[in-house]
Amino acid sequence: MNNRLRTTLALLSLAALAGCRGDREDAPPREFFPDLDTQLKWTPQGRSEMFEDGRTMRQPPAGAVPFGRRAGVSDAAWASPWASERDRFLRDDPAYFDGTSGRDAAGNPVFIEKLPASVSVDKALLLRGQERFNIYCSVCHGYLGDGKGTVGVQYSPVAADLNSPAFLVADAPQTKDGYIFNIIRHGKPKPDGSGGFTMPPYGHAMSEADSWAIVAYVRALQAARSAATPTTGGSR
Ligand code: HEC
Repeated sequence: MNNRLRTTLALLSLAALAGCRGDREDAPPREFFPDLDTQLKWTPQGRSEMFEDGRTMRQPPAGAVPFGRRAGVSDAAWASPWASERDRFLRDDPAYFDGTSGRDAAGNPVFIEKLPASVSVDKALLLRGQERFNIYCSVCHGYLGDGKGTVGVQYSPVAADLNSPAFLVADAPQTKDGYIFNIIRHGKPKPDGSGGFTMPPYGHAMSEADSWAIVAYVRALQAARSAATPTTGGSR
């Protein structure tokens, strides 16, 4: 009897609980199992008991260099190592990191004509480019860039002669430094759309800085190869 009474009571209270659902009620609902629905927190503009000034939001320490955006970053010389590090993180310079000045209306990359302004062309850059070219490119393109590397001549299609007239045709992509940069980093996809490459990508093997050094060196090779040969003889 006692047992039956208990069961009836339990059933009744369950029914009562279930019956409350859906009824309109102004008081906050009773939470029998809160399940971490609410927790203590500080909202951005709220007050905080913890700090003396009573603010939840804290001031960044003096001299902190913001990393998330460009605006407001100090141009002071002392900040330049952090500024360039931040640029590398954000990769927010399409000329340097992508070799483009953006996309055209059709969504195709617009390659920059010349090396990005942030790359200064000096002897050190050309020597670095030569060293990297000899390591990564000469096997196919030859030390002179003439496409006569031991591996390159076995390739199908054969490795390009980087001094060929194709690099001089006005408006040809090959005349644009940003295009060469992209070939180095992303290779040249086979035209059949198979996902393969006629020239393999080398972006995994070198930094953007070294890729630009190689571009500068390829241009130096081309300039050297297209220089007029001095004629012998003539009037003295
Ligand atoms: C494994 C061989 C191989 C290596 C290594 C190689 N290339 Fe090539 N490269 C090729 C082949 C093959 C082509 C021709 C692709 C074609 O005609 O579709 C080519 C084409 C090119 C072109 C011309 C692209 C065009 O559209 O006209 C450039 C520029 C170039 N390579 C630069 C480089 C540079 C710089 C390096 C070193 C980072 C390099 N290549 C390393 C095989 C290679």
